[in-house]
Amino acid sequence: MSYYESSLAQAKALGEKEHVRILAIESSCDETAAAVVEDGRKILSNAVFTQIDLHALYGGVVPEIASRAHVEKVDRMVDRALRDAGMTLEEVDALAVTYGPGLVGALLIGVSCAKALAFALRKPLIPVNHIEGHICANFLTHPDLEPPFSCLVVSGGHSHLFAVEDYGVFRVLGQTQDDAAGEAFDKAARVLDIPYPGGPLLDKLAEAGDPHALKLPRPKTEGRYDYSFSGLKTAFINAVHNARQKGEALNDADLAASFRAAVVSILVDKAMLAARELGLDKMALAGGVSANSLLRREMEKACAQNGVKLYLPRLSLCGDNAAMIGSAAYYHLLRGEIADLTLNAKPALRL
Ligand code: KG4
Ligand code: ZN
Repeated sequence: MSYYESSLAQAKALGEKEHVRILAIESSCDETAAAVVEDGRKILSNAVFTQIDLHALYGGVVPEIASRAHVEKVDRMVDRALRDAGMTLEEVDALAVTYGPGLVGALLIGVSCAKALAFALRKPLIPVNHIEGHICANFLTHPDLEPPFSCLVVSGGHSHLFAVEDYGVFRVLGQTQDDAAGEAFDKAARVLDIPYPGGPLLDKLAEAGDPHALKLPRPKTEGRYDYSFSGLKTAFINAVHNARQKGEALNDADLAASFRAAVVSILVDKAMLAARELGLDKMALAGGVSANSLLRREMEKACAQNGVKLYLPRLSLCGDNAAMIGSAAYYHLLRGEIADLTLNAKPALRL
């Protein structure tokens, strides 16, 4: 029997097994991560090596450095995930891996590692879309959450509002026309000399500032539920530069607070417009920017006012991790959606 035929047979049999444990690997950007997840909902281990220190010097992720660090760390993260879960490789039921979107060289490390393990162990290999993974971080946080619901995914590379119609079934309701929300935060932070990745530190600085200090535009978009951050970002950068040229003293905390308030109000307003017009009654947040403290507070307020039940991912699951990949993989496995050994990285994969 070929590897793929035996994987398909195993995937079918796993549907009847009491507990299914998936070893998942994530390496799409600057986190090298491995995790063991049981039945799509329970984290048995979640090992993450963040490369931030390696890239901070350059003010952003350097793809070659990311790939090299993934090569060096991926085995160690797999070992740690197994050790923390108290399991051996042989006890794993299936392998899962992020195969896109992301940096091609970075993705390839995780994909190669997962393929090698799957082939050597002759166990099913489940390819997972990174954005779907972020959404599934909510399944690990909220045992009661089931589709259908809507999900605002805001990270360094993506800003999308999705309708999650079923497990693995997504429809785009709105998306950014230019920069992702995280990218906008990071670029605004850079102007304030906050080191990469600036989003979390800008968020902290903003807590002490006046969000009304600087007036910023609220961009118009063609699609009703689409976003745009590039005009806002440029307006912010110009305002800071102009003030500096005139020798005007601007308070960094006020600037951070004004920028954060503008981004958050765009995200919240559009999400709530969609909720009201489309009758969405359950909304989740996902992705690195869902850790933003103002976004979490404002979404809570707005959802309460609009009768929408809000699901926030646990803070430790907002950024990139492999547990979220293991959760998404479980539902694909149940449907027999597994890969053969020709699986390749897809840097521009869409959901
Ligand atoms: O999901 P993620 O870890 O990686 C991608 O898939 O892109 O998201 C990283 C992004 C970065 O842009 C980072 O600055 C942003 O999420 N981020 C935040 C916060 N925490 C992380 N942005 C604003 N406020 C935060 N608290
Ligand atoms: Zn991500």
